[in-house]
Amino acid sequence: MTEVVGATHQFHEAEYAEDWARRFTPTPERMQLFETVLEQLQRAVPADGHIVELGIGPAYLAEFLLERMPHISYEGVDFSEPMLALAATRLARFEGRVQFQQADLLGDSWGSALTRPPAAMVSTWALHDLGGQAQTAHVYRACAAALSQGGILLNGDLIKPDGTRHLFEPGRFTIGRHLELLQEAGFSDSRCLHLWEEEIEAPTSADNYACLLGIV
Ligand SMILES: C[S@@+](CC[C@H](N)C(=O)[O-])C[C@H]1O[C@@H](n2cnc3c(N)ncnc32)[C@H](O)[C@@H]1O
Repeated sequence: MTEVVGATHQFHEAEYAEDWARRFTPTPERMQLFETVLEQLQRAVPADGHIVELGIGPAYLAEFLLERMPHISYEGVDFSEPMLALAATRLARFEGRVQFQQADLLGDSWGSALTRPPAAMVSTWALHDLGGQAQTAHVYRACAAALSQGGILLNGDLIKPDGTRHLFEPGRFTIGRHLELLQEAGFSDSRCLHLWEEEIEAPTSADNYACLLGIV
């Protein structure tokens, strides 16, 4: 009961990044999250729209979306050089449609350094690693500022499920609090689309992830 649900990472180390990418090849449940993201993007984003991914990591989601949305352009932001190298390798066949920005999401400049105005911003399993609610709120505000009216943010992140007796790392917090932070950041509408692998009694660090939608 005193164990905290969460994980520590060394994303700047090449061996760790490669091992993480091997261990977390998308499962069928995570593929359902990708499908949910795709469904929303197909509704909200013009065929040749620009999509920005925050914490792109090994680019599993990026590859999935670039294959299924053949005219979009894509920009991956991440602070880890080894993760960006893995992403570049995975996405090599989409050359000309993909760009990368090495930046710390906790900084203030990545939003204004984007190569094109985004129609949508996406993220999976990344923002909880920023450290807490204030850090996630900072990114939510930067997203709201970078998107124009009708633009969407889809954050498929690990959360703390309602009703659990377990302690969670501060970056994992309730869906209700995420929705409040999205509203406070300037999203006019926010909702949770789905929660996967909900586990209240004996959660592991890879359980309990939700797809949160914010519409500007
Ligand atoms: C757990 S991995 C998830 C990768 C990918 N989104 C996925 O779902 O497979 C988190 C990613 O976020 C990146 N990341 C964590 N903190 C960051 C920060 N402060 N700024 C930029 N990227 C960050 C890490 O380098 C890593 O690539």
